[in-house]
Amino acid sequence: METQDAIETRRSVHSYTDEELTRDEITEIFEAVRWSPSSYNLQPWEFVVVDDEEGQEALREDAYGQEHVTDAAAVVVVFGELDRGAHAERVFGDEAEKGYRSDESARKLVERFAEEPPEGNEEWVVQSCMIAATTLMYAAWNRGIASCPMGGWDGDAVSETLDVPETWYPVLMLTLGYPDKESDEWRRERKMRRSPEEFVSFGR
Ligand SMILES: Cc1cc2nc3c(=O)[nH]c(=O)nc-3n(C[C@H](O)[C@H](O)[C@H](O)COP(=O)(O)O)c2cc1C
Repeated sequence: METQDAIETRRSVHSYTDEELTRDEITEIFEAVRWSPSSYNLQPWEFVVVDDEEGQEALREDAYGQEHVTDAAAVVVVFGELDRGAHAERVFGDEAEKGYRSDESARKLVERFAEEPPEGNEEWVVQSCMIAATTLMYAAWNRGIASCPMGGWDGDAVSETLDVPETWYPVLMLTLGYPDKESDEWRRERKMRRSPEEFVSFGR
């Protein structure tokens, strides 16, 4: 699919077919996600894919009963790793090796992020994780797999359901599956969008 087509035809889907998504298909989507940009290239994202009935039922409860959580083939929960030191050594070591920064600068950054507490990095992880989640939506749609990004869920409840580490901050939930093209939803025209004339200002 051309990039422009993918952008113009992606839509949030709530009606899915019963067709399953294989873990290989899902992994292929993540092969694209890994190339997303991130602050300092620290890639502070963790994705939990839930594709079993029981798990999806539990997440649906945490998402205030939203039906597409169980109707979709899989649900992805995006978490942000608040510990900026988690991958610092590998990331900055790679940058020093490839000439993006000096050994000295890499060493200082590794030290800085190793000492820093995880608290207060919530906004920092959300920025990079939302970009990765967006890559996921378009990489999926490029393969005909639809999604719906979701903010309507209880982060604490989902963290407990999935038993994730304390430093994983809940960012976004997404449903994934093949769209039911016979559904009323699919037949509807795409929702309105504001025009660039309205939302873009140039200069000050
Ligand atoms: C941050 C965010 C939170 C959202 N939360 C939900 C949600 O909890 N449930 C839902 O069904 N859709 C949710 N949506 C989907 C929006 O309703 C949808 O993107 C919007 O209506 C535009 O429709 P479209 O994506 O089909 O163009 C969310 C979208 C975003 C970006």
